[in-house]
Amino acid sequence: MEGPEFRKHLEERADLSPRKREVLSLAHETLLPARVETWVGAGIPLVIGRREGYRITDLDGRELLDFHLNGGTYNLGHRHPELVRTLTEALADLDIGNHHFASEERALLARALVEKTPGELRYTVFTASGTEANDVAIRSARRATGRRKVVGLESGFHGSAGLAGAAGRDRTARAFLSDYPEEFVTVPFGDLHAMEEALAAGDVAAVLMETIPATQGFPVPPPAYLPGVLSLCREHGTLFVADEVQTGLGRTGQLWGVETFGVEPDILVTGKGLSGGLYPISAVVLGTRAGAWLREEGWGFVSTFGGAELGCRVASRVLEICSDAATLEHGRQIAERMASGLEEICGRRPFLRGVRRVGLVMGLETAHPTGAIQLCRALYEHGVWAIFAGFDLSVLQWKPGLLLDEATCDEALERLDAALAGLEPDPAFEAGRA
Ligand SMILES: Cc1ncc(COP(=O)(O)O)c(C=O)c1O
Repeated sequence: MEGPEFRKHLEERADLSPRKREVLSLAHETLLPARVETWVGAGIPLVIGRREGYRITDLDGRELLDFHLNGGTYNLGHRHPELVRTLTEALADLDIGNHHFASEERALLARALVEKTPGELRYTVFTASGTEANDVAIRSARRATGRRKVVGLESGFHGSAGLAGAAGRDRTARAFLSDYPEEFVTVPFGDLHAMEEALAAGDVAAVLMETIPATQGFPVPPPAYLPGVLSLCREHGTLFVADEVQTGLGRTGQLWGVETFGVEPDILVTGKGLSGGLYPISAVVLGTRAGAWLREEGWGFVSTFGGAELGCRVASRVLEICSDAATLEHGRQIAERMASGLEEICGRRPFLRGVRRVGLVMGLETAHPTGAIQLCRALYEHGVWAIFAGFDLSVLQWKPGLLLDEATCDEALERLDAALAGLEPDPAFEAGRA
């Protein structure tokens, strides 16, 4: 739709305030025409205004519980008061810093990450985004092994630029002629046999996978899967890269998702929540072999904004909060409370056919091929913001925050129940799955 036509369409929408129409129209003109049209067309014209804790306010004034958390960016809530204070105080004496030199803030956070990650990880490289962090992980594995090939999951997402964009499902990379089909291979999730075949030739630098694939709606790995992949990697000289951008920082009940599955990766990637939702920062934590290049190439990777000192201050506090035993215990308890509420709703609402869950990492399976879009909209109308899984539109990502309190947990369950009341299962879809 062209700009003037879309503007006219917005003007006909009585449900939108003039301010919201203005923002949507401006974003359509100069920012994201297709995306804005999609949300407006789907009946979810969300423009986030005020935000605090696990609540956001739509520009129209309606309050929503945030159960998307932008992939875990707001794991600790929006504008966590202590993190806001940390950042504000840091502004009194810090700025981004100069990435060419040693820095106290970066070194302290690097050490904290090395200490708090499992196994023998010993170096940290900072980046601004998770995409870049995955890119560095791939480059490190290639350099360490002298091999180019990377195996990922068909259901994997690791970012939309560079090498990370070509890994996992590469539909978007292909659309921009940025795929590398010879070098990036995918296998189905949960299939150890396919993984073994992919690694058998001994030419694979890295297996790069999310501990629980988010964009696929968090399918739970069978207990033997991740340890099985790790042992295949060891057998074939391949490095195991755990993308913990969504599953790290306490969301599974342990600090890192891989710990829940008893796996010690060669490289661990973290991002999103590390920022406290306040200052962009992501990191790759590398083992001795993967990080050998850091002893050889002083400038093997440079990033002006990677490890910005302001971000390091915030991230250091985020890491302390997320790894605190009481925080992790709270997360486990709230996850149990949420899970039993979901189970109860599941028994009464046939549209909700199942719940996938590891700690606070949750996917709601609906009984309709595009049920998660319907549920996303119904939830929006009932005061909850939660997003469908992009690679499986029957599953809704359901992300309770790590610090969620019991009352808000129960409130979210009530709103979910009300949203489900108006939704009908698709018998053909159900029959097809049987
Ligand atoms: C699992 C995973 N890895 C990597 C990324 C890319 O992170 P960023 O958007 O910070 O580049 C994302 C973003 O959604 C993600 O979900």
